[in-house]
Amino acid sequence: MGTRVLVRQVRAEDAARFVELAGLSSGLHRPWVNLPASAEEFREYLARFDQVAAVGMVVCRREGGDLAGTVNINRIVRGSYQRGVLGYAAFLPFAGRGYLTEGVGLAVRYAFEQLKLHRVEADIQPGNAASIKLVRRLGFRREGFSPGFIKIDGVWRDHERWALTSEDEHVY
Ligand SMILES: CC(C)(COP(=O)(O)OP(=O)(O)OC[C@H]1O[C@@H](n2cnc3c(N)ncnc32)[C@H](O)[C@@H]1OP(=O)(O)O)[C@@H](O)C(=O)NCCC(=O)NCCS
Repeated sequence: MGTRVLVRQVRAEDAARFVELAGLSSGLHRPWVNLPASAEEFREYLARFDQVAAVGMVVCRREGGDLAGTVNINRIVRGSYQRGVLGYAAFLPFAGRGYLTEGVGLAVRYAFEQLKLHRVEADIQPGNAASIKLVRRLGFRREGFSPGFIKIDGVWRDHERWALTSEDEHVY
């Protein structure tokens, strides 16, 4: 797998297309994630990725190179944890084609093999069926449930805690 997409670092030159696709996809993304809706918000978003605590990537179609979505490894903690937390979203019109499963899988491989993390996690709202299906396909296990875990759009939302460790059998 990983044959139809690649993942690479998100960069300043992506701003216009990223913001355009995020705007077109806002109906798909709410209330699960908020992506930058303007050039200014995109600059702030980019600044979060210092390559130490957070790595921001885009999922690109190999054919044509357009942005199929985004995948980030956030909240990287070293020391005795060696963990990171995934964030991801598909861009319309590329949702529902398997690109994000491939792209998130490549990001997981990057996390284990290049960043040498031991654990990647995904915090997912219980109603987010598409996201739960995606991590299941990649071999993640549900480790727990945290009520009111993350504030999104001004509301503290419950999240399921999904994770994969480098010893686990995973797809990529
Ligand atoms: C979560 C999210 C990224 C999943 O995106 P997605 O497009 O469903 O994921 P994929 O790109 O891997 O596509 C998988 C679907 O494509 C289908 N598909 C179609 N053609 C395919 C192909 N050639 N290969 C593989 N899958 C294919 C699969 O059957 C699957 O559909 P199913 O889950 O109904 O069975 C997307 O719904 C999204 O952006 N949601 C909002 C943001 C969000 O929730 N982020 C996560 C927060 S925790």
